[in-house]
Amino acid sequence: MCGIIGISSNKPVSANIINSLKKLEYRGYDSAGIATLSDGQINEVKSEGRVDNLENNFDLKNLRGNIGIGHVRWATHGIPNSLNAHPHSSHNVSVVHNGIIENSTILKKHLINKGHEFKSQTDTEVIVHLITENLKTSELEEAITKTLEQLDGSFALGIVFRDIPDLIVGARRGSPLAVGYGPNENYLGSDSYALKSMTNKITYLDDGEFCVVKKDQVLFFNEDGKKINKKILEMSSNETNYDKGDFKHFMAKEIEEQPITIKTGIKEYIDNVNKEINIFNFPWKIEEIKSITLIGCGTAYHSCLMAKYWFEELTNLDVSIDIASEFRYRKNRFKKDTLYVFVSQSGETADTYAALDLCNKNSMKTCAIVNVIESSIARDSNFVLPIHCGPEIGVASTKAFLGQILVLYILALKLGSLRNEIEKKEYQEKIKDLKDLPGLIEKTLSYDNDIQAISSTFNEAKGSMFLGRGYSYPIALEGALKLKELSYVHAEGYPAGEMKHGPLALIEEGMPVVVLAPKDSYYKKTISNLQEVVARGAKVLLITNKSKDEVVSENIWETIEVENTNDDLFPFLLTIPLQKLAYYSALKKGYDIDKPRNLAKSVTVE
Ligand code: F6R
Repeated sequence: MCGIIGISSNKPVSANIINSLKKLEYRGYDSAGIATLSDGQINEVKSEGRVDNLENNFDLKNLRGNIGIGHVRWATHGIPNSLNAHPHSSHNVSVVHNGIIENSTILKKHLINKGHEFKSQTDTEVIVHLITENLKTSELEEAITKTLEQLDGSFALGIVFRDIPDLIVGARRGSPLAVGYGPNENYLGSDSYALKSMTNKITYLDDGEFCVVKKDQVLFFNEDGKKINKKILEMSSNETNYDKGDFKHFMAKEIEEQPITIKTGIKEYIDNVNKEINIFNFPWKIEEIKSITLIGCGTAYHSCLMAKYWFEELTNLDVSIDIASEFRYRKNRFKKDTLYVFVSQSGETADTYAALDLCNKNSMKTCAIVNVIESSIARDSNFVLPIHCGPEIGVASTKAFLGQILVLYILALKLGSLRNEIEKKEYQEKIKDLKDLPGLIEKTLSYDNDIQAISSTFNEAKGSMFLGRGYSYPIALEGALKLKELSYVHAEGYPAGEMKHGPLALIEEGMPVVVLAPKDSYYKKTISNLQEVVARGAKVLLITNKSKDEVVSENIWETIEVENTNDDLFPFLLTIPLQKLAYYSALKKGYDIDKPRNLAKSVTVE
């Protein structure tokens, strides 16, 4: 993770570096730092914690220099303190880095033997000293090529030089990096979002490439140090969704935006007049696809698991799912007739990208389901299905999850229809039901007070469990993930039918257990499992859909009812109270909801 910015201009750069770093905080917020060049010296300032701390601790307005680099960190090597904060500098070279240098220990030993002194515990510092060393014997481009060859691992780098004060070097292997173009200045940034307030003209570096950024010129080089030409892309300049509005947190805003997310997704993919799904330019014939593998991390992996149920039900294809960090190192049997689907909000997650890269190297069919359409995963996939939910800033994924499962559901419906696995009438019914979904989500969002009150019990308990069967099981996992990442309380998601095989031992008097039991085909089985935990003293929060009939159990602690819909669509509605439960639990504890501890929004390290 970590965020990088660099600006080469004809005017002082520190204010714009600070602004960009604030935008990059979703990539890391352990510490922040800046280095500028002025009067023949490197001016380095850095602080533990947020960019705000950096601003409070230093007089940045008076930080001189028309060229500079900045960094927000998510710690990998070395604890998050100001010493380990980036930039790292020698007398001549200052570096910001996103990624991990895997051979840093060996390189460090070698550099210490040559007389270099290290100040931090980071892997990054070896890059500083390697460049300093290589510049003793080589011109700039050769020194950079040599240095990059010596590094194992992944990186995006921004580098400035005391003795070459008119340029910034950027380099990429594994971690994303973009160049932006402005009037009398040019930029380097981890992504277009960081540069958006300054430019919408972007070039993305590809793996192995580096660049030299001057205020009036940008040069690109391949890994052999040969000059190359690269395209400039124009990004859409829509900035509208980047503030919290009247909401206290981005997460609260993003939860409330979900009816719009779903409405937009439906508008993009569904022709309501002809009751048809439009997926234009799908590059393969339906007969060419015999199986599907869905790959993602965290919440995006839960979307994959959700999709497995729908794809199996609606398409009758073989479906497997994988956590990207496992897939990338397993011995996979790649099959030409498999469609590999990569699910990622950011489109930059290192493990998911590596899994995609592996599939590309084996000439597989690849499809990306992403929110950020300029992202690496989108650019390097054969086919992209955007989720169209606008920027998601809160670290905990909410609207992107619903956006992902919507697109996956639509894809499953379409493939099912093309494979003649769904009758036309049923297909059109399901499309019709989708149209009502934004309204149903909106209603479900309005049941708020109960959840606020309930959330205290989860905060006070030692731990909690989230149970579901069938379509509700992935949502149980997602609910538990949301609670643990925001409230820092232990929460476990489990298939309700698995409890008796071990986890039932955890249930004790008063333990809160969420049971997801919409009245679908799994309902009766789930209720039996519910009775089993009630019998052992659990405080059950039942989340089901509205209906007049039957008392499930007299011993249920609380019930939340969502709206009625068809069985396929309950997962969308069940997600809402779980997101709110996590939100209110964290709110009551006074935690930093948009930036939970130890996490970052875009996980660009493995
Ligand atoms: C949890 C969460 C993470 C992400 C995961 C993958 O709320 O947001 O688990 O889902 O880091 O990120 P993307 O979707 O950007 O690949």
